[in-house]
Amino acid sequence: MRTIAFLGSPRKDGNTDLLLQEAVKGMESAGLTARVFRLNLMDIKPCQNCGGCDENGECIINDDMAEIYREIRTADRIILASPIFFFTVSAQTKILIDRCQSFWCEKYLLKKPIGGGKYGRKGLLLLAGGMKKEIGIQCAETTARAFFRTISVPDHDTLGYLGVDAKGAILEHPTALKEAFEAGKKLAV
Ligand SMILES: Cc1cc2nc3c(=O)[nH]c(=O)nc-3n(C[C@H](O)[C@H](O)[C@H](O)COP(=O)(O)O)c2cc1C
Repeated sequence: MRTIAFLGSPRKDGNTDLLLQEAVKGMESAGLTARVFRLNLMDIKPCQNCGGCDENGECIINDDMAEIYREIRTADRIILASPIFFFTVSAQTKILIDRCQSFWCEKYLLKKPIGGGKYGRKGLLLLAGGMKKEIGIQCAETTARAFFRTISVPDHDTLGYLGVDAKGAILEHPTALKEAFEAGKKLAV
């Protein structure tokens, strides 16, 4: 089973990173390994809405997305982990999502969705926000849902934590890390 994870936080060992690390540990406890992409360290340009992918579903921008496109096609499990910035996912996460417009064209215009693979495709969304305003989780969830469905992940679980602002504050949360571990473990079944 192939698993990939996208970290959309620029903060190494920040709250989203810590949640993702626990989810990966949970996966590893169930025999899976994950390849983690730290989006902030990658060369990924924003979608230019050039229409280049309309006809064949292929993005014409040549950058680190080339590798991510290949991985998204073949992954069985996909984790998206993002902090909440201005009531939605971070810019790093959104750039990745927008660049999946090529998969949108492939699925909805060319009617060639990514196949379900041997194990079916499943997703996990991890969110951390500093404020205590649910709208941040709702907006991020809506965007992430569109991402998952576009790349033919029909189901995903969501874990969102609010009121965690300082770097590492998630470590004080009574249940977050355990829940992230269990959610990662659950991806194996
Ligand atoms: C640019 C920016 C915008 C933010 N906007 C929000 C917001 O709209 N809602 C919220 O709950 N927290 C917001 N926060 C706080 C972060 O979500 C919070 O610090 C979170 O723990 C960061 O996660 P990280 O440690 O994984 O980077 C914002 C932080 C930054 C830097």
